[in-house]
Amino acid sequence: MIKKIGVLTSGGDSPGMNASIRAVVRYGIHHGLSVSGIQSGYSGLLENKVTHLDLKSVGGIMQRGGTMLMTSRSEEFKTISGISKSAGIIRDNGIDALVVIGGDGSMAGALHLYRQEGIPVAGIPASIDNDLYGTDMSIGVDTALNTVISAIDKIKDTASSLRRAFIVEVMGRESGYLALMGGIAGGAEAVIVPEFPADLADISAKLKRGYERGKTHGLVVVAEGAGNPYEIGKYLENKIGFEMRVTVLGYVQRGGFPSAFDRILGSRLGSAAVEQLLQSQFHHMAGLNGNKAVAVPLEDVLAQKRILSESLYQLAAILAR
Ligand code: F6P
Repeated sequence: MIKKIGVLTSGGDSPGMNASIRAVVRYGIHHGLSVSGIQSGYSGLLENKVTHLDLKSVGGIMQRGGTMLMTSRSEEFKTISGISKSAGIIRDNGIDALVVIGGDGSMAGALHLYRQEGIPVAGIPASIDNDLYGTDMSIGVDTALNTVISAIDKIKDTASSLRRAFIVEVMGRESGYLALMGGIAGGAEAVIVPEFPADLADISAKLKRGYERGKTHGLVVVAEGAGNPYEIGKYLENKIGFEMRVTVLGYVQRGGFPSAFDRILGSRLGSAAVEQLLQSQFHHMAGLNGNKAVAVPLEDVLAQKRILSESLYQLAAILAR
C-alpha cells in the first residue's frame, strides 16, 4: 500500500510544472499520503536532496514559471548503477512511489526505475515541445505558444514598418508542433518543420508573389530541428523582394507565468497521476485525451511517436496566401 510519495521535476522546465507539483502535494495529502519533494530532478535524487512537503509549502507557486523543485538533466541517472543507487535512496527515505514531471527522457527514467528496481512510478507530461505520445497536450505548450505568437506579433510590427521578411526560429527539439501552431496563429507565409520536407524554392516564390502583390511583410517560422535559420535566410535573400532578418526566440519560450490552460492541465494531470498510484497503476503517465485525463502505460509513451497533424500542416499552407 502506498503511504508516502515523492515528486520531482526533470529535464527542461516548462510553465505549469508548479501547478502540477501543487496538485500532487495537495491531492496526495487529501488522500492521506505523505509527500516528499526531491530537489533538482534525478541528479538531486542521487544526492538525496529530499524534503517534506506540506500544504503550505506549495502555496503561492501556481502563477510562477519554472519549477519550485528545480530540475536537471542527469547523465549518471541513466546508468544501471545510477538507477539502483536512486532506488536505494527512495527506499531509505520511506518513499513508496515516485511522481515524475517532465518530458520523454524523464518518462524513460521513470520506466527504468520501475522495470529495473520495481519502484512504482507515475509520469506527468511537461515539455514545451509537445512531442510526447499519449497526451494531446503537455504542460507548458500552451504558454510557450502564447509567448511565440506575442513575439511574432511584435516582429510583424517592425517588419511591416520596414517592409522586411523575417525568419523566426522557435524551439521544439525534433518536434515541429510549436512552429506549426505558432505559424498558423501568427499568420506565417510558411512553416518549416522537421516532420515534412520543405520546398525552399516554393517558399521563396510565395514570398516574392506576396511582395509583388504589395504585402508589407513576410514571415517564415522555422522549428529548431528543421534546419539552420541563417542558412535558410541566405538562400531566400535577394530572391524575394523583401529585405531579410532572422530572429531566434530561444529560452524566453520556456519562461513566464503559465496560462490558465497550463495551470488547469497541471492541476488535472497532477491529481490524475496520484490517483493512478492509489489505483495501483504503477507504470503509467497521466495524459490528456480529448477532454479526459487518461492513464497511458509508459511503455506505449516511449515506444510510439507523436505524429504532427499533416492536415494542419496543409491548412497552414492554404491559409498563408
Ligand atoms: O525540451 C525543451 C527544450 O527547450 C527544447 O525545445 C530545446 O531543444 C531544449 O529543451 C534545450 O535544452 P537545454 O535546456 O538543455 O539547452
